[in-house]
Amino acid sequence: MTDDQQQLVPHADTGQYRIRIADLRDIPALLEIEQAVFTSQWTYAEFHRVLDTPGVIALVVQDRAVSIPPHKYASPQGRNLIVAMGIGARVSNFTGGLWNLGVRPAYQRCGLGRWVLGSLESRLLGSAPKLHVDAVVVETNVHAHKFFRACGYRALRVVHQQFDDHDADCYYFRRTLYRQPPAPL
Ligand SMILES: CC(C)(COP(=O)(O)OP(=O)(O)OC[C@H]1O[C@@H](n2cnc3c(N)ncnc32)[C@H](O)[C@@H]1OP(=O)(O)O)[C@@H](O)C(=O)NCCC(=O)NCCS
Repeated sequence: MTDDQQQLVPHADTGQYRIRIADLRDIPALLEIEQAVFTSQWTYAEFHRVLDTPGVIALVVQDRAVSIPPHKYASPQGRNLIVAMGIGARVSNFTGGLWNLGVRPAYQRCGLGRWVLGSLESRLLGSAPKLHVDAVVVETNVHAHKFFRACGYRALRVVHQQFDDHDADCYYFRRTLYRQPPAPL
């Protein structure tokens, strides 16, 4: 991000951004973010399959200050530019997985990634007393390592992950969430 962009993009907590559940009509915007931030990318079909899977939680953040042409995305909620996404799911009673988290490059380092991750985490935890949340990050993605560590994750081990287009060593990050006990009356 340039200094100019940094001044134009306010921090996540200014009220300029809105977070909501994603639906299938958001896939073109999700693909745009995917192509902007990942070298190994999900396809339209993969987004469709994942968003259509019961139990999957997919969130998007929209920038209320940036309107897009009505014909560009089909979603009636999509009149504002989608600038960040996060997708995850409960994979067992004790574990949740983060599968995809991305912020448009011009919007990075404004707190949006932390916001999406926190929203996903609280939805994954739900009413459970405790949940492990896991994320697999390619070894060379140092910025994401710093991000996950800053968000309370720790690297458990290195795993060899087989992606469609390349082999990669990855860090396996985990954070354990606990449900807050109700505040005393
Ligand atoms: C990783 C990613 C989601 C972070 O989103 P973001 O909105 O830029 O992150 P935030 O602004 O919420 O950052 C929260 C904290 O993480 C750390 N952090 C985030 N990006 C960082 C970077 N590039 N370098 C160092 N620390 C970083 C910082 O401690 C930051 O807090 P600070 O800005 O107060 O110092 C975003 O950079 C991205 O989309 N990257 C490409 C896709 C990707 O790697 N996804 C994760 C693997 S699935």
